[in-house]
This record gives sequence, structure tokens and C-alpha cells, in this order.
Amino acid sequence: MNILILSSGTRNKIVEYFKKEINGKGKVICTDCNPLAPTLYTADRYYIVPRIDDSKYLDCIFEICDKEQIEGVFSLIDPELSLISKNKKRFIEKGIIPFVSDYEIVEACFDKYRMYETCKELDVPTVKSYVDFNEFKEDYMSRKIDFPVFVKPYNGSCSMNIQLINNIDDLEFNMKKYDNLMIQEYMNGFEYGVDVYVDVISKEIISIFIKKKLLMRAGETDKSVSVKNDKLFKLVEEFVKKMGFIGQIDIDVFEKNDEFYVSEVNPRFGGGYPHAYECGCNFPKYMMNNMNGIINQSQIGKYDKDIYMMKYLDISIKKGI
Ligand SMILES: Nc1ncnc2c1ncn2[C@@H]1O[C@H](COP(=O)(O)OP(=O)(O)O)[C@@H](O)[C@H]1O
Ligand SMILES: [Mg+2]
Repeated sequence: MNILILSSGTRNKIVEYFKKEINGKGKVICTDCNPLAPTLYTADRYYIVPRIDDSKYLDCIFEICDKEQIEGVFSLIDPELSLISKNKKRFIEKGIIPFVSDYEIVEACFDKYRMYETCKELDVPTVKSYVDFNEFKEDYMSRKIDFPVFVKPYNGSCSMNIQLINNIDDLEFNMKKYDNLMIQEYMNGFEYGVDVYVDVISKEIISIFIKKKLLMRAGETDKSVSVKNDKLFKLVEEFVKKMGFIGQIDIDVFEKNDEFYVSEVNPRFGGGYPHAYECGCNFPKYMMNNMNGIINQSQIGKYDKDIYMMKYLDISIKKGI
């Protein structure tokens, strides 16, 4: 049973976990367009491939799938999720499971305002958001929202161009200067990262892992602690079911005045997934079960709380690339 990890980049832990779980009964094969991606040299086999926007890219991936008898595939970078989900059928026809949600769902996740609107439609608590300055101003005048507000690109990632704004003049200036900003209610409470696995055969939620973020750095969780909260488990279950996600996803949630609000979703392994794995939420095992035609049983909440995760840097050395 061989699995293909696309655009594996620097996500060495993920590759290691898959190797551990596959335990010699198959191969973990990685691809990247950069020969200096350290995961390539951790994998059982690797391929250096064109960039995902190259017209030959998909053909190249399918060639690898044939050659290596791949049975499951997933990507670790956002732009590629759209590509893989769009071509899901082609993978399935070859007997390969693409571990990704459907195209429309993936696209909704990449537009934070669209996600806000979707949550509103589905009646899922979310963070009040605006893309229209005049609409915000109306609500501000009628005291439905107040400063400070949080401003960020609706199509951004890695915490790029995020800022806290304290008055209407600064807000108007920024909204006129950039055309991709959205205004959000400022959430000053705790932030949580939730790792979820949805069985690709039964479409049932198998695992929900909640970590409270203690420190963020460059858009990534640097320190976190595992927690359990029934109210949040329930909210996540409802949200994931209503949206129809499948496979591995990562959800950001804010807490404010004892209520939880869905903020955004990365429909892939989140950067903080190693914390979930180390606490016993074994997504590679669930994925391999699915590749073997086995339906997983729910493990929701089956992990230890009060386990802390502290990230640190590591290096990889390789002679002659
Ligand atoms: N409405 C908000 N109020 C307070 N902080 C926010 C708000 N939105 C985002 N943030 C902070 O900015 C970070 C990045 O925002 P996010 O929407 O998660 O975008 P991305 O992770 O794609 O860069 C969040 O992890 C959080 O710390
Ligand atoms: Mg985020």
C-alpha cells in the first residue's frame, strides 16, 4: 500500500508519521518542485516535479501514481487542494483515494468572506465580517459593531497584512488603499486549532482534537495545549457535517465571552497536526484503513488533555543534490 504526499515541502513530521504507521507494508512517496525540500530525503522514494501551475504537472503526478502503484494521495499546500479536488474523479477511476474535500468546499475555505457567508447560511456561529466599508459604517453608526476591528485580506494566509484598527478614518484609508480587505469584529479571547478527520468511506467524523493556542508566530501555532470541551466538540461536529468536509481538516476557532466562533478552515493537515498525532489522534492510520477499504470507528475526544506542544527548529543535511 503506497501513499503519495504532494508538495511535501518542510513537513517532515507528517512524512515520518506515515512511515511509522505504514511500517514497511508500503511506501511513502513524496513530491516537491524544489529539490531542497527536506521531506524528499525522509521519504521512501521521491520525485522532483514541475510547479503545480505547469501544464504538464497533473500528467506527471498520474505517471508517478501508475509507476508507484499509489492507492492514496494528498497535498500539503493550499493552491494544490483546488487542483486535486477538481480532478478527484480521475484519481478515483484509477483506484486512488484523493484525501481532500470536494472542489466547491475547498474553494469556500480560501475566501474568508465566503466562509463567513457560508457559516451564516448554515447557522454556525462565526466572526462578524464585512467587505463593504459602507455596510460597516452603517452598522457602526447604529452601534452594531465598535472599534477596535481586525482587518485582513479575505484571501490571505500566514497572517500576512493583518492589523488592528482603532478608528473609522484609518479604516476608510485602508479599505480604499487595498481592494482585498475584510473587516472583522475583534476577537480578544482564546484561539483554538481543531484537527478533524472525516472517514472518506462512511463520511462520519472519526476524530476531533482541540488545542488551545498559547503562542502564535508568523501565522503558525508555536505553543499549544490539548484541551477538551463538549460545547466545542458539538459545534465542530455540527459545522463539519453541515459543510460536508471529508478527510483531514484544520479549523480555527475563537472564544469570546464563553462562546465559540468558527473563524477559518484549512481543508488539509494543519501546521499544528503533530500535536494531535502525539496525543493519539492517528490520522495516518485512519487514512490507511480507508485505503484498505476499512471504515474507521469514532474516536472523538479519545486523547489526553493537558499535553503541551512546543515547536523548535531542526535541520536536514544531504550531500550532493
Ligand atoms: N477577528 C479577529 N480578531 C482577533 N484576532 C484575529 C482575528 N482574525 C484573525 N486574527 C489573528 O490573526 C491570525 C491570522 O488570521 P487568520 O484569519 O487565521 O488567517 P491566516 O491563518 O490565513 O493568515 C489568527 O490566527 C489570529 O491570531
Ligand atoms: Mg489561521
